[in-house]
Amino acid sequence: MNELTLQAFEHFVGRFGTEVDTRLREARTAEDVEAIRVEYLGRANGKLTDYQKQIPTFSGEERKLAGQQFNAVKKLIEGRLAETLTELSRVTRLSVPDVDLTMPSRSQFRGAEHPVTVVIEEIVEIFREIGFTVATGPEAETEWYNFTALNFPPDHPAMDMHDTMYLAEDVVLRTHTSPVQIRSLQAGPPPIRVVIPGNVYRLDPFDASHAPMFAQIEGLAVDEGISFVDLKATLTHFATRFFGATRTRFRPSYFPFTEPSAEMDVECRLCKGSGCPACKGTGWMEILGSGMVHPNVLDAAGVDSEKYTGWAFGMGPARIALQRYGIPDIRVLYDSEMRFLGQVAR
Ligand code: PHE
Repeated sequence: MNELTLQAFEHFVGRFGTEVDTRLREARTAEDVEAIRVEYLGRANGKLTDYQKQIPTFSGEERKLAGQQFNAVKKLIEGRLAETLTELSRVTRLSVPDVDLTMPSRSQFRGAEHPVTVVIEEIVEIFREIGFTVATGPEAETEWYNFTALNFPPDHPAMDMHDTMYLAEDVVLRTHTSPVQIRSLQAGPPPIRVVIPGNVYRLDPFDASHAPMFAQIEGLAVDEGISFVDLKATLTHFATRFFGATRTRFRPSYFPFTEPSAEMDVECRLCKGSGCPACKGTGWMEILGSGMVHPNVLDAAGVDSEKYTGWAFGMGPARIALQRYGIPDIRVLYDSEMRFLGQVAR
């Protein structure tokens, strides 16, 4: 290249700025951009690079001006190259040729609460309306809270009926929510009106009507002058609120921590009392165990059994959910099967 006047230098170098701009508008891929970069800024024969070699041929003030011009154009070109790369990457992402925009979309699953959760919330809400508050307790309990304080005699066969899972010598996964009766009584003093939802554990085979872990809701009402009338009236009110107009019946039963004890049945929802496989032909479904709190239980928890009386109940919301949704097998509630959960979503 012949030696140039400063004017010519500025003219040619300045032109590269516009030239690159035009060329970049045609670039479609990152490779196109790279080719343009090499053509102008390439170390060996870049068009602009060649002009850098001219700078030392100027002297004094002229050399300074040529240098400034050169650097300004180089910076401009580098900037445009980078901008174009960013634009291209954005466009490429949108127009990947193998995306078929006419393909029907995948159907979406809408989240919903589990049917047992729905039932628990409704039950708790009904008791909340009549002045009960919610209490909870630990799932790992000492034998004392799970059995002893609840008036289970040591080594009594009643303990076997609970098929307990032991975590350690004296620590069990609670077999019922009743230990929270003791914790609520200890937190007292009466009047106490609580409902206690929570999970419980039993060494049961996992079959159509049993699960090793299931939910319970416990209820406890303790005050001066509470009688079996309160138990019956409150639980009948609950059944009417939850199931709508329905017949109920109380059958004598046995629990170490209540005396007297009763189980409450409601008319089978599926056959309206005429007898079907779901109610084993009886026309009734058992929904809870209940009874008057045994004085030994009050005493064990430090509540004066001469002054106070109370009643308690425990029910299994899973059984109630099975009835309500007409589900024949309890295992369905543990499967997280979307086709099932979708059907019962509220
Ligand atoms: N804890 C009992 C059970 O799991 C139910 C129950 C609770 C019965 C409270 C009476 C009073 O079977």
